[in-house]
Amino acid sequence: MTIAVIGKADWTEVHAVQLQAYPVELHESVVVLADKQRLGPDSCWCWREQGGVLGYLLAHPWAGDAPPAWGLGGQQFTGEPDQLFLHDMAILPAQRGKGIAAALLGQASRWALLQGIGHLRLVAVMGAHSYWERQGFAEVRGAPPLPAYYGEEAVLMGKAV
Ligand SMILES: CC(C)(COP(=O)(O)OP(=O)(O)OC[C@H]1O[C@@H](n2cnc3c(N)ncnc32)[C@H](O)[C@@H]1OP(=O)(O)O)[C@@H](O)C(=O)NCCC(=O)NCCS
Repeated sequence: MTIAVIGKADWTEVHAVQLQAYPVELHESVVVLADKQRLGPDSCWCWREQGGVLGYLLAHPWAGDAPPAWGLGGQQFTGEPDQLFLHDMAILPAQRGKGIAAALLGQASRWALLQGIGHLRLVAVMGAHSYWERQGFAEVRGAPPLPAYYGEEAVLMGKAV
């Protein structure tokens, strides 16, 4: 089992994990998904085991209280990052509860520290805020409202590394 930076050949499998992990309204195209690596060339990871991708974490440097859009490619970020934004983490349903997500999250925290980025941020969807709270994240107060497509339960969350 290994955590590796996602390679070009992995994106189809990564996309297949997303399709199994989320309801259809949160599916992104493989092109949009792979575009996250333009913003974070070294911070999009997958977990490989048994010859396949079982899970992934896509993250990239970002700044400010307005998160990047879900489902949209071509977003630009220039300037000094104040956060590593965790765009999406998902594990194949049959592979959950084995610590894969915790290992990917540890990788992101270590990477952010090495880059001198002191915060992790994300939008928790589908009621996952309780999962993230257990990982030490808290709601970011005072931020602009999140776009409606994230769903009513969405919460902007952050954590210092
Ligand atoms: C969230 C997710 C990545 C966690 O993956 P995982 O491999 O099960 O995580 P870990 O093994 O590190 O941790 C499992 C623990 O988290 C808990 N957990 C998993 N999903 C949860 C959720 N949505 N809400 C609350 N707790 C959750 C499990 O019950 C388990 O608890 P335990 O340790 O007491 O048994 C996985 O459930 C997933 O892919 N979900 C669908 C996609 C998703 O919601 N991603 C996050 C969007 S913000």
